[in-house]
Amino acid sequence: MPKTVIPVAPARRGLAIPALSRDPSSGPLADTRGRGLRDLRISVTDRCNFRCTYCMPRDVFDENHEFLPHAELLTFEEIVRVARVFRGHGIAKIRLTGGEPLLRRGIEDLVAMLSQALPDVDLTLTTNGSALKQKARALYASGLRRVTVSLDSLDDATFRAMNDADFPVAKVLEAIDVAAAEGLAPVKINMVVKRGTNDHQVVDMARRFRGSGHIVRFIEFMDVGATNGWKMDDVLPSAEVVRRIGETFPCEPVNPNHFGEVARRWRYKDGGGEFGIISSVTQAFCSSCNRARLSTDGSLYTCLFAPEGYDLKSIIRGGGSDEDLSRAIAAVWQRREDRYSEIRTAETARLRKVEMSFIGG
Ligand code: GTP
Ligand code: 5AD
Ligand code: SF4
Ligand code: SF4
Repeated sequence: MPKTVIPVAPARRGLAIPALSRDPSSGPLADTRGRGLRDLRISVTDRCNFRCTYCMPRDVFDENHEFLPHAELLTFEEIVRVARVFRGHGIAKIRLTGGEPLLRRGIEDLVAMLSQALPDVDLTLTTNGSALKQKARALYASGLRRVTVSLDSLDDATFRAMNDADFPVAKVLEAIDVAAAEGLAPVKINMVVKRGTNDHQVVDMARRFRGSGHIVRFIEFMDVGATNGWKMDDVLPSAEVVRRIGETFPCEPVNPNHFGEVARRWRYKDGGGEFGIISSVTQAFCSSCNRARLSTDGSLYTCLFAPEGYDLKSIIRGGGSDEDLSRAIAAVWQRREDRYSEIRTAETARLRKVEMSFIGG
């Protein structure tokens, strides 16, 4: 039987930029729901050396899968230019993602360029940790000050099955230690919790990182993309995560660090530090969502669950000025209505959406 081909990249080149609905074209922006623009998440590659079952299932991302040709990727100079323009709209944080961002050749040069161009922006990066031990020192020297590492289990067999690349837990744990020792601290650790797959590891993860200074965040399995076979039954609600941890380690909620923070913070009552829960499915946080995403090929996405993005690259490569870019970003943001997690149903979960590895977590 011929294999069904599931599109992982958007169908079109990108949405056309709408007209500016109101001035100003620079400075702080608000969307149709009054949400500002605070975070920019930049995907620097659509490639990854892992095949996490919830993100890049191997039967879809197989040897025939066509990743973006290099010419389609924004160059470092183009990325820095876009980031500067976003800064003009008041962004406070930039997160480099992928795919696996440390696979992009010269990533430390991009970090250096961004940290020099935008010294007052909180610059961070999400990685699977496989190349972090080798890169941590160079990243710190380039100006990176903190990092988030994905780790879904402490049990080696479970972790290898989830990353589907036979990658061992021990190497990620070692990378976390090296990163912290090099100054990339606190390290945040992302665990995607899938019921029946790794939920038995929740309390062990909490125990392992209590008192370490690192912060584990337990993430509800989401229906990002269209290839990961998401079902509500596979979601372990964050309330249950907190209940399980609290049974062993009494804990209490903590106020957010800033408005719109993705993770809800909890702390151990005995002073063992904190952990976070990210509850996009059971407690949607769209009402304060202030995140924009720039895909590897230069499109602007206003939601993680969007089917397509707005084509900024045509402006960048078509001779547009910074003012043109700034106006385009403003026009898109001013019309933004996204609130996918608030309106999620079994039906929307099946809709075509861009893959997370393409626009970045
Ligand atoms: P810091 O707390 O500043 O380190 O950043 P963060 O909370 O944004 O952390 P991170 O980038 O590691 O995000 C953690 C995870 O939360 C992501 O990998 C996604 O799974 C999820 N997430 C982040 N932003 C969104 C969002 O806008 N919508 C949804 N639904 N999920 C998100
Ligand atoms: N649900 C929740 N989180 C996901 N991530 C990737 N796919 C999913 C999903 N389906 C998270 C991973 C990683 C980050 C890049 O995105 O945990 O930390
Ligand atoms: Fe790669 Fe991260 Fe996706 Fe896993 S979650 S396949 S490490 S991009
Ligand atoms: Fe923001 Fe979309 Fe996530 Fe809601 S679902 S928090 S609008 S990215």
